[in-house]
Amino acid sequence: MERIRLVVLFGGQSAEHEISLVTARHVLAATDLERYDVQPVAITTTGRWVFAEEVAGALAAGPDALPEELPTSGPEVSPFALLEPAAGERLVVLPLLHGPLGEDGTVQGLLELAGVPYAGCGVLASALAMDKAKAKELFSANGLPQARFRAVHERAIGDELVEELVDQLGLPVFVKPANMGSSVGVSKAKDTLSLGRALASAARYDEWLVVEEAIDGRELECAVLGNLDPRASVVGEIVPGAEFYDYEDKYLDGAARTVIPADLPEPVSAQARQLALRAFTALRCEGMARVDFFYEEAGRGLLVNEVNTIPGFTPISMYPKLWEASGLGYGALIDELIRLALERYARRAAKRRTS
Ligand SMILES: Nc1ncnc2c1ncn2[C@@H]1O[C@H](COP(=O)(O)OP(=O)(O)O)[C@@H](O)[C@H]1O
Ligand SMILES: [Mg+2]
Repeated sequence: MERIRLVVLFGGQSAEHEISLVTARHVLAATDLERYDVQPVAITTTGRWVFAEEVAGALAAGPDALPEELPTSGPEVSPFALLEPAAGERLVVLPLLHGPLGEDGTVQGLLELAGVPYAGCGVLASALAMDKAKAKELFSANGLPQARFRAVHERAIGDELVEELVDQLGLPVFVKPANMGSSVGVSKAKDTLSLGRALASAARYDEWLVVEEAIDGRELECAVLGNLDPRASVVGEIVPGAEFYDYEDKYLDGAARTVIPADLPEPVSAQARQLALRAFTALRCEGMARVDFFYEEAGRGLLVNEVNTIPGFTPISMYPKLWEASGLGYGALIDELIRLALERYARRAAKRRTS
């Protein structure tokens, strides 16, 4: 089998930098070093690309030598020099970056310019999935069920807007920055005063905000994998430890529980899988994505919440666990993402040159 130089990109400039380090640690530990020449590259919080020497050294000594928290220090590299394949070399990039400037199409755009295959969604899907306001518009256009919502710009924030939102959506509502993840900037507002505060707090992260009716329901997640013929995994359930699935709950407390497969009537899980594939296709995703739902048992049933194009990827994260439960282990999943990256690259090669 042909050897591949696998550039593993981690860190990044978003509020989810630390989570990316955890993901990368586990992915590096599980990558088949017989098959890939792994090159760990950190993007620092200030956006510099760094060859993570210490990580590479530890990896060479064996996966157990990897430090608990990956250091992001090392010599700075120019992305374009790094992404230049040597003669006869196969190069694939594995972007393990969560949030803005990593999961939102920006790094994917750089990889397109560099002309290298990379795992996961392309520019358009990454940008659309990261922008909750635009993603919701596309869900509507594709007839996907979801919570009632409004997208607002921060310059509209004021008493009048608060009144309008309460009229339209009632209370409580959830307020979120359009471009973020890991529940950063997300809050639940139960009265007009806290709605004003929630808007201001979300606006610290993005100028566009989403306000939506609070759903009283279970939280389900489904993993999707593939390019033009994607597959959906079994369905999992998140049981939040806090009032909602907030940042602490996701990463610090370990209070949230996951149930795989979720205890659901078969037609409901079948419908979740089908909606997950439709949401994936609606945003033109390729490679991977995790599609999250609310399940209003006594009401409207399944409602699409969001699509994550670079979901949490530690062995205890939902995305790999859903595939594990569907018969695809952690290492095999990484191989499959790399294979899909090469497949998409080859498919599009013919269209790349127009003159
Ligand atoms: N409309 C809603 N109704 C009820 N809970 C919500 C709603 N929107 C978000 N939440 C809660 O907040 C969490 C984070 O919101 P989410 O939209 O998934 O943003 P993120 O991209 O940060 O994960 C969800 O997992 C859920 O617990
Ligand atoms: Mg979420």
